[in-house]
Amino acid sequence: MNHDLEKIPKHVAIIMDGNGRWAKKRMMPRVFGHRKGVETLKEIVIRANELGIKILTVYAFSTENWSRPEDEVNFLLNLPKDFFDSFLPQLNKNNVKVDYIGDANRLPEETQAIMQEGLAQTSKNTGMILNIALNYGSRQEITQAVQLIATKVAQGELMPNAIDEELIDAHLMTHFLGEYSAPDLMIRTSGELRLSNFLLWQLAYSEFYFTDILWPDFKPEQFDEAIIEYSKRKRRFGKV
Ligand code: IPE
Ligand code: IPE
Ligand code: MG
Repeated sequence: MNHDLEKIPKHVAIIMDGNGRWAKKRMMPRVFGHRKGVETLKEIVIRANELGIKILTVYAFSTENWSRPEDEVNFLLNLPKDFFDSFLPQLNKNNVKVDYIGDANRLPEETQAIMQEGLAQTSKNTGMILNIALNYGSRQEITQAVQLIATKVAQGELMPNAIDEELIDAHLMTHFLGEYSAPDLMIRTSGELRLSNFLLWQLAYSEFYFTDILWPDFKPEQFDEAIIEYSKRKRRFGKV
C-alpha cells in the first residue's frame, strides 16, 4: 500500500462485530470467536500503528452487551487480561499507548485493575493511542455530559448561553483525545448496518465503511482496503 500520509485518517473507530457468527459457522461456542477476535485486534493494532494512524478506538463491550448470557459476559470482561498478558511487550515495542472510554465503575474489580495496569504500563508511549470502548454506550455518555453541564448551570458556574458544541465536546469521554476526538473513519464488520450506540456525537461527520467480513476474519489487508477506500472519499463538511 502506498503511504500517502495526507490521506491516512488520524482517528479510526472500529465496531468489531461477528465473533459469535464466526464461531457458529465452525460449530464452536461463541466465546471461541471472541478469543479469535482478540488475535485479530492485535494484528490490526500493529497495522494501524504502521500506517501512522494516531488513534484507534475499538468497541469491545457495549452497555447493551450486559443483556447477554452471564457466561459470555464474564468471558468478554476477562478478555482484557488475555490481551495485556500476551500483548503488552508488543504494545511497548510499538510505542502504543492504551486508554479507554466507558463506565469503568460498573466493571468487575479485576477488569478495572487490569485496565488500570495496562494504561499505567503503556502511559509513557508516544505513538498511536489504542482507545478501548469498554462498557461504553453513547447515550449514557451524552446523558452523563448533560448531567455534568446542568450541575454547573444550577451552581451558577455556567450560563446556559455559554453551552456550545465545544463545551459539550469537553464533557464527553473522548475529550482527552483533543483535536482528534471525532473519528475520520468508522469501520463495522459482519454486515450489520447500524451504530449500536457507538460514538453518536463524534461520528456526525465521519466516513463509514461496512464490510460483510466477520471480525475474526478481518486481516491487515482488509484494513488497508478500508483505508484506501477512505482515501478516495471527498469529505465536504457541508461545503460545495
Ligand atoms: C462482537 O461479536 C463482539 C461483541 C459484541 C462483544 P458478536 O458477539 O456480537 O458476534 P455476532 O454479532 O453475534 O456474530
Ligand atoms: C456492537 O455489537 C458492540 C460491540 C461490537 C462491542 P453488537 O453485536 O452488540 O450489536 P448489535 O446487538 O448487533 O446491535
Ligand atoms: Mg454482534
